[in-house]
Amino acid sequence: MRHLLNPLDFTVEETTKLLDLASDIEKNPAKYSEKCKGKKIATLFYEPSTRTRLSFEAAMLNLGGSVLGFSSASSSSASKGESVSDTIRMVSCYADICAMRHPKEGAPTVASMKSRIPVINAGDGGHQHPTQTLTDMMTIRSLKGRLDNLTIGLCGDLKFGRTVHSLIKSLVRYENIKFILISPKELKIPSYIREDVLDANNIPYEEVTHMEDKLKDLDILYMTRVQQERFFNEEEYIRLKDSYILDKEKMNLANEGMLVLHPLPRVNEISVEIDDDPRACYFKQVQYSVYVRMAIILTLLGLTDNN
Ligand code: CP
Repeated sequence: MRHLLNPLDFTVEETTKLLDLASDIEKNPAKYSEKCKGKKIATLFYEPSTRTRLSFEAAMLNLGGSVLGFSSASSSSASKGESVSDTIRMVSCYADICAMRHPKEGAPTVASMKSRIPVINAGDGGHQHPTQTLTDMMTIRSLKGRLDNLTIGLCGDLKFGRTVHSLIKSLVRYENIKFILISPKELKIPSYIREDVLDANNIPYEEVTHMEDKLKDLDILYMTRVQQERFFNEEEYIRLKDSYILDKEKMNLANEGMLVLHPLPRVNEISVEIDDDPRACYFKQVQYSVYVRMAIILTLLGLTDNN
């Protein structure tokens, strides 16, 4: 039995296979429409979500399976004090696979230790979000045609942004990747990513506070929201929340081929005036997420054609 807890749980070769499967699902959805007939996914969301929960549910429904679950800790017995370990023991009796989001870093890993079904980390605190990363990688590979030879700007809340941490961990495995890390000094990338991932792999990167003079060099600009829910100090959140706003003026400084990605939800960091710019790809990303999550479910349940 396999879980997906960390973006590195799949090797580069396995990641390629998974993205190939997601691309095949995109082209031939009917071929997969009954692959999970009789199977159930439990979505255990202790923290709010729109995209991740609904796209996992859509993915299982597209595969002919069914869904059950809860969308907040308050509507589950967690509100009565039940532990994640006990909850997963129950859910193992009801479902074949589960996707768990939790505000505490490591909660899905704790669940996996007691689980009899595959556990997918659907975002754990400010730590990791591996299924978003696989979505981001499918988006980049589909629209740029490659996952190597890229200069990637990561902008916004690099301290708490779990999607950024997971994406860096995954992309350092490809050739000739460079990162431009754009954030206020209070929201810089944590040292466990800078030192243990970037420095340890000799990956070139720059840390800057302004995006304007870097836009022309980027193949990808990955915008992120300043994560209000991770701040202890409301005043600091208010001071930092509008640090970056990508608008038409800034897009005029970017190169013609630069793609704008964002895991969403956005607040103010991307102006709606650029939604129609052909380089704005964040809504395409949402569509790719369904194919990727279908591929993840099939892979973890051992239902790919290779099995
Ligand atoms: N990208 C993402 O994780 O969105 P949700 O929080 O809506 O699931």
